[in-house]
Amino acid sequence: MAKKITVRTIQKIKDNNEKFSMLTAYDYSTAKYIDEAGVDVILIGDSLAMTALGYETTHAIGVEEMKIFTKAVAKGVQHALVVTDMPFLSYHTDISTAVKNCGEMIKQGANAVKIEGADEYIYEVIKRLVGCGIPVMGHVGFTPQFLNTIGGYNIQGKSFETAQKILEQCKHLEHAGVFSIVLEMVPEESAKYITDNLSVPTISCGAGKYCCGHVIVCDDLFGKFSDFKPKFARRYGDMKSLILNCAKQFNEDVKNGSYPSDDEVFKLSEDELKHLKDNIQI
Ligand code: KIV
Repeated sequence: MAKKITVRTIQKIKDNNEKFSMLTAYDYSTAKYIDEAGVDVILIGDSLAMTALGYETTHAIGVEEMKIFTKAVAKGVQHALVVTDMPFLSYHTDISTAVKNCGEMIKQGANAVKIEGADEYIYEVIKRLVGCGIPVMGHVGFTPQFLNTIGGYNIQGKSFETAQKILEQCKHLEHAGVFSIVLEMVPEESAKYITDNLSVPTISCGAGKYCCGHVIVCDDLFGKFSDFKPKFARRYGDMKSLILNCAKQFNEDVKNGSYPSDDEVFKLSEDELKHLKDNIQI
């Protein structure tokens, strides 16, 4: 059995100039298989609001739902580091609410939390969380919870000045105590510049090959979510076709009577069958 990945393992991977993999998962069996495959970090991403619950953005999901998904995923994982994405407004109002909500995820089995954004308030939240024993993954660049203020799915850090600003945010996050930082939708060269100037590992979500970690939403990887495909998401499967074919076949088999077969039903014993027949009232 492979050793449990911790935040220290993640830092060692960076220090050894190696790479780590990260996938999202939202349910027990998917998490179990992803873990069995050897993926290093499993994120219960708030992307599940879109992929699993069908909302248009990540805003609609709350703490109670994230607790349920965290519990299910954590039960399936033995090896990977389990990180829960804190949902919109669950850490923004005040530090004690942030600690309470993040602590709830640890109680469900998460090993760390991820929070988006970087400003003075967020740095204070991170310091308090780390002070309480809750490891924090940062997330800058394009941050989906800020979609309405960003004004669209826009690439961040497209100039030296904006890359410099992201680097400054990352330096503050690092100083506050994060163990890693997701860079989302940042040009590869900017992400390299940022990565090269940090001690903690960066994780690319559309930020190119120079980051230490690489994350993809599992539904994109499996080819299950088909509403759109981000440029940086590589599809390794076609689960949409698999599900469609299985459901079509089942529908046909029910209607043509070939499901269930004799192997798929429970039978009475000979004695009970006779008893039943003897007692049938016509
Ligand atoms: O919600 C999510 O799945 C994420 C990752 C894509 C980084 O934040």
